[in-house]
Amino acid sequence: MKKKFLSILFAVAMTASMLSGCGNSNTTSKVEATTEALSPTAKAFAGKKVGVCIYQFDDNFMTLFRTELMHYLVDDIGFREENVIIVDGANDQKVQMNQIENFILDGVDVLIVNPVNSSDAPEITDKVNAAGIPLVYINREPSKAEEDRWATDNMKVSYVGCDGRQSGSLQGEMIADLGLDAVDFNKNGKVDYIMIEGDPENIDSKNRTQYSIKAIETAGIKVNQLYDKVGNWDQAEAKTLVEKALKKHGKNVEVVFCNNDSMALGALEAITEQKRVVGEDIFLVGVDGLPEALQGVLEGTITGTVFNDHITQAHTAADVAAQYLQGAEVERYIGCDYVKVTKENAQSVLDSVQ
Ligand code: GAL
Repeated sequence: MKKKFLSILFAVAMTASMLSGCGNSNTTSKVEATTEALSPTAKAFAGKKVGVCIYQFDDNFMTLFRTELMHYLVDDIGFREENVIIVDGANDQKVQMNQIENFILDGVDVLIVNPVNSSDAPEITDKVNAAGIPLVYINREPSKAEEDRWATDNMKVSYVGCDGRQSGSLQGEMIADLGLDAVDFNKNGKVDYIMIEGDPENIDSKNRTQYSIKAIETAGIKVNQLYDKVGNWDQAEAKTLVEKALKKHGKNVEVVFCNNDSMALGALEAITEQKRVVGEDIFLVGVDGLPEALQGVLEGTITGTVFNDHITQAHTAADVAAQYLQGAEVERYIGCDYVKVTKENAQSVLDSVQ
């Protein structure tokens, strides 16, 4: 059934997706087409090879993303499973660069790359472009200067992802919405917080850190940073950091901001071990909408999260790759909206990802 919409994927759904950003993940599934129109397109993709580079398999959010990407490339677009090769960069840019070179030697038709370091995008782009292979970056956005030259030099290169400033702002809003009185347990007239950052090189991490606090200040509430450390998107690292912060600053810690949900889950372990209770004497926010975190929001052990729609991003990246293979004109930047998740909508977001 799902393959039915293939033939007009590019005529209708992609146009909609390009125009509206990632928007609604159901856009394509509502499209119907005839079986006659389907087969040439399906055949065209069945013979093509896709190389996918993920910065690190050991990352919860990127695991959801790559699983959805594989599923959609094969089940919806029509690539053969053996022609979709997904590799683990093991968080090492040298390893990933070798993988990209091997994909080029293997003659893949299109590459989807989640770079280890977005600052290395120019080198990746040059290699892939010189080989005449279209390239779709995902999740870690290259610099504006890098994106600008894709258009200027007419390269077949695009980026699909969300804007970290938006997720940061939504995190901050969730705390500001509670009101200073509800958060200011130590009554010093400020929100006293600790920040657990993703990774120092990542633009999303920088933006989430900055914009979460900016949103609180914009709401007219004063803030006081007690602690700010890098947890590398990792649950165990975040747990250790939050434990240290709680031991050092005790009850003065009113809010724990984590740049992602994996780290929020680690923070929650530390909070619980220190006999603190989210919603009663501390607040905790993350980003991603991992199922465990959504469950936490429903149960009240996490104050809120921000849904990072891996389904729509995976579908859009795959659609863009397919569109390049069709020889179509493709947007260079395709954005996607984050969604604020509190107890009120956590169940519906959970239903949509399961
Ligand atoms: C972010 C996500 C993090 C982590 C990171 C990897 O968008 O929120 O959990 O997966 O991407 O680059």
